[in-house]
Amino acid sequence: MPTHQLGRSNFGDTKNSGKLLTIEEASQLLNEWVSNEKLRLHMKQVAAVMKAWALEIENADEKSALKWELAGLLHDADWEKYPDDHCNIIIEELEKRNIDPEVIRCIASHGPRYFGVEPQTSMEKMIYAFDELSGFIHAAALIRPTGYEGLEVKSVLKRLKSPAFAPQVSREDIQDAISRIDPSLEEIIQFIIDHQKGVV
Ligand SMILES: [Fe+2]
Repeated sequence: MPTHQLGRSNFGDTKNSGKLLTIEEASQLLNEWVSNEKLRLHMKQVAAVMKAWALEIENADEKSALKWELAGLLHDADWEKYPDDHCNIIIEELEKRNIDPEVIRCIASHGPRYFGVEPQTSMEKMIYAFDELSGFIHAAALIRPTGYEGLEVKSVLKRLKSPAFAPQVSREDIQDAISRIDPSLEEIIQFIIDHQKGVV
């Protein structure tokens, strides 16, 4: 991923707290901005995992879980159309639409090395941890005849140690993201397998 330092660490306006898109509105934005089906699937998978984590692990209510889900669903929305300004364009769009700053800052912090925004909240740390691993696990499932069925944590760990498999996925980012949270790499891999396998 090319580097696009955002040059700021505050996003949105606190007066917009609680202002969210519906999933239908966010999906419409996604369909308008992203023609690549694989990229759309990636965002839907990260959204499903984020929502499940909020509800099951963080005991979030429906409204806060929607924030987690929206951040996942939109985090790469500008990647296809604006590769040289990735992250900045979707952030500006959500600021224009007066969306809750927590959602916007979460999107801005999904790649600290690239965007220069340090994940602070749990939602921000988790999107960073889930993003690369979600894509990696999907790649690992795709090459198996049974897909996600029977996919085990240990085989994902083995593939992570093999530099030739999905070389575009930064192992360094994965290690860095996991080092910032309490759950282990193994737990996160299992959680992703369980919650993204049904996403289409
Ligand atoms: Fe992503």
